[in-house]
Amino acid sequence: MRITRRLVISLAVVALAAAFLAAHFQEGGGQGPAAIAAPDWTAWRAAFFKALAEAVAIVFVTLLVLRWSIAGPIAQMALWMRQLRTGEEHVRPDLPNVRLFDPLAREVERFSRQLSRARAAAEEEARLRQAAEAQWTPDRLSEHVRQRLQGKPLIVVSNREPYMHVRRGLGLECIVPAGGLVTALDPVLRASGGTWIAHGAGDADWDVVEEGNRIKVPPEDPLYTLKRVALAKDEEEGYYYGFANEGLWPLCHIAHTRPLFRPEDWAHYEQANRTFAEATLSELERLGEPCVLIQDYHLALLPALLKRRRPDARIAIFWHIPWPNPEAFGICPWRRELLLGMLGADLIGFHTQFHCNNFLETVDRTLESRVDWERFEVQRGGHATVVAPFPISVAFPNAFQDVRSEHPPEPDREAFLKGLGMTGRHLGVGVERMDYTKGVLERFRAIERFLEKYPAYRKEMTFVQVGAPSRTHIKRYHDFLAEVESEAERINGRFKDGVWRPILFLKRHHSHREILPFYRHADFCMVTSLHDGMNLVAKEFVASRDDNGGVLILSRFTGASRELRDALIVNPYDVEEMTEAMRQALQMDQEEKASRMTKMRATVREHNIYRWAGNLVEALSRVRLDQRAAGNE
Ligand code: G6P
Repeated sequence: MRITRRLVISLAVVALAAAFLAAHFQEGGGQGPAAIAAPDWTAWRAAFFKALAEAVAIVFVTLLVLRWSIAGPIAQMALWMRQLRTGEEHVRPDLPNVRLFDPLAREVERFSRQLSRARAAAEEEARLRQAAEAQWTPDRLSEHVRQRLQGKPLIVVSNREPYMHVRRGLGLECIVPAGGLVTALDPVLRASGGTWIAHGAGDADWDVVEEGNRIKVPPEDPLYTLKRVALAKDEEEGYYYGFANEGLWPLCHIAHTRPLFRPEDWAHYEQANRTFAEATLSELERLGEPCVLIQDYHLALLPALLKRRRPDARIAIFWHIPWPNPEAFGICPWRRELLLGMLGADLIGFHTQFHCNNFLETVDRTLESRVDWERFEVQRGGHATVVAPFPISVAFPNAFQDVRSEHPPEPDREAFLKGLGMTGRHLGVGVERMDYTKGVLERFRAIERFLEKYPAYRKEMTFVQVGAPSRTHIKRYHDFLAEVESEAERINGRFKDGVWRPILFLKRHHSHREILPFYRHADFCMVTSLHDGMNLVAKEFVASRDDNGGVLILSRFTGASRELRDALIVNPYDVEEMTEAMRQALQMDQEEKASRMTKMRATVREHNIYRWAGNLVEALSRVRLDQRAAGNE
């Protein structure tokens, strides 16, 4: 605008001068200086207006030229630059073929290329940052633990040990016991290092330990220390088989098995917790403000036992099984003692918010304490305990990394099915410890109904039940195992045809390596627990399916069903519903299977075990230690 104004003024001045000169020469001709001295004003005015009109015409034409050839392209370029800046869709404007614009156009083009590169880099960085936020890896956990614990080792305490040495004939074998706790925590310790204190239950465990009952594990690639705790036979009987597994286990699962509470079992439970406390305290001796992660219902008294002796320790207990409502928990004769023991911890974790709520209500009804529902905290005797959900998970994406190998190569589907003696095309699997809470009998009855209702699947579908015998010293477990066997036999007897049997029950401990092909080649996996804190078989199955195939049939009474929404969710007590889920799984098209599995894999990838451990350690490292320890009175 300013340029235009200046141009107009300049042109007006030029017009005036031109008019003056024109008038002068018109009047005076070549008559000499006298004519200059006496100008003819009329002629002068006429000349002036003529020159002015010409000047206006020139200005107008100039402005038009400017608009077309300069302002237009500049405006186009400005628009182009704005589009570049804001990331809108843009095309290079069609600039007039004038040299004047070349340098500018070149600069803008260079600027455009640089901006696109910078934007792409920023987007990639943001994506990576976001992925890093969402994705927890072993390295990230290791770094996180190192920072939060300021270089001190992580101490984990549980009843079950991650590696158990057993005698096989004349030799020894190291096995990984079945069960969710070991599946979840071994990858954590492998990543973070530290010490895992657990009961040495293997019959050859004591032949291989070194000083202080320690042994480095995993045996083939030592990454952390396992410290074994010895328990006398009767102590193990009363504490583990008795109070923990005949009392607390059925009490918390509410799966129609009556809990048994024997005073002598309770005495052993107390004693075993004291034994674990001594083993743990000796491990904490040289550590200031150590962090201890206690695991599960076997060790409910341990938090208070440790806190009393080491008020500077940060203590968490994670409860791997459900927590029932206060009425159900209320039948336990030692409910107060158990709660006081647990409240010695600074942090108590459950899988779900629902279990946290049940726990706080139980405390509210059982003890004199202040339950802060806003902060989810119990305050008692100057000590606060935070209660929070931490849904446990599996290692992802490296769940089976250690067992996947080229030598021997993983069997292909055909070879695998043939190896099982299968003649049909369809494979369903179930993988569990043989426990009455897992709904195995209900599952078998659904298979029977399925074959009744859909006879076309006879000889076509085989269901393989991989079942690790568990806690078989307990009558209920012993009987359950026998019941599962006889039920499989009954159903097989009813439908068998030539060599085909509908159910193949593999009753023995299977290693991780042996389980993997069942998961990977199954058309569907059934997890039909009557009640389960989380259930990691469901998550392991999902983690193993990098082909995005297979369908998960999942009980709504598992913690996992709250996360794995793309499974076929069933009520295990409803035979017809389970039958229909099996049909749906077998008839589902590839696209739907892949879409469901992809979503479930994304969930497990994001909420993997490294995140679980990272969050737990984070929460524990934030607790304030300035309160007096609970359970002191
Ligand atoms: C469940 C419990 C674990 C236990 C596992 C195997 O997952 O929560 O604490 O280790 O079962 O049971 P087991 O009795 O063999 O240790």
